[in-house]
Amino acid sequence: MDDQAPVVLQMHPFSEYLESRLKTRFEVVRWFELSDPEKSAFLHQRSAAVRAVVTGGHIGCSDDLLRALTKLGIVAIHGVGVDKVNLALARDRGIRVTTTPGTLHEDVADLAVGLTISLLRAIPTSDAFVRAGHWLKAEKALAHKVTGRRFGIVGLGNIGAAIAARLAPFGPVSYTGPHRKAVPYLFHDDVLGLAADSDVLVVACPANASTHHLIGAAVLDSLGADGYLINISRGAVVDEAALIAALDAGRIAGAGLDVFEREPLVPAELLSSEKVVLTPHVASATVETRKLMSDIVLGNLDAYLAGQPPPTAVV
Ligand code: 8YV
Repeated sequence: MDDQAPVVLQMHPFSEYLESRLKTRFEVVRWFELSDPEKSAFLHQRSAAVRAVVTGGHIGCSDDLLRALTKLGIVAIHGVGVDKVNLALARDRGIRVTTTPGTLHEDVADLAVGLTISLLRAIPTSDAFVRAGHWLKAEKALAHKVTGRRFGIVGLGNIGAAIAARLAPFGPVSYTGPHRKAVPYLFHDDVLGLAADSDVLVVACPANASTHHLIGAAVLDSLGADGYLINISRGAVVDEAALIAALDAGRIAGAGLDVFEREPLVPAELLSSEKVVLTPHVASATVETRKLMSDIVLGNLDAYLAGQPPPTAVV
């Protein structure tokens, strides 16, 4: 990359596919690898060289950076979540914000179903049972049936709809969200009613002010002692302390979680619980989908650098 190359701040690790292609367009600064003093020094000396930020949906870009990078023109999100970027501030500052729509709903829905089956059929503990040699001496405790369960989806957007389509062959599906939709699933006005009518409650709504801690003690109690929670959305939608308390007291049966309130930190109570199946925010993490997402990120950056409107801008 020559001296005149625009600078992009990279906010977390990406695939080799994306990282190698960023390097042909930009001088890449791996922001997530800098110490706080290094970040301050960089901003002091070079903030005006930064034209782009490339980030994950769950990482975003802080308000401070949006303000400090005076020549920033685009925040390209490698993902669909916009909860970690202040869109109003970006708009005010003339910064474009792009996402990767239509790329990851299938994978996220696949993982939601995978977590559901793993949890109810106890696949992780069965795997551990075989590896530990316990099978030679005993039979594994019985798990629980998936087929015939009532599934409740919180948020029937692209991802929620893909989850519903996959779960419908297993059992009745109902949902809640801001609006009733023309779909063959039962609509509930609120999440409390949905939880009461579900054996498995799947969180698939975006994180925003109105969904923060939407799933708290009351909803978990409504789901009940035989109910399961699946979250592939954002940690912030679930009150994690309330979830831990409900699991601990047997007020719900279990949880399958891909996202956490303070990820990558996962509370010790969840790490030590056999009532949960945990994955490290990998719902969209397949080679195939990450390539699609990368191509959209690169297309948006190329359009921006060429002075064209980025194709999938939300701002
Ligand atoms: C990814 C996501 O974790 O789309 C989102 O909002 O959270 C995920 O797809 C992430 O953006 C990967 O960089």
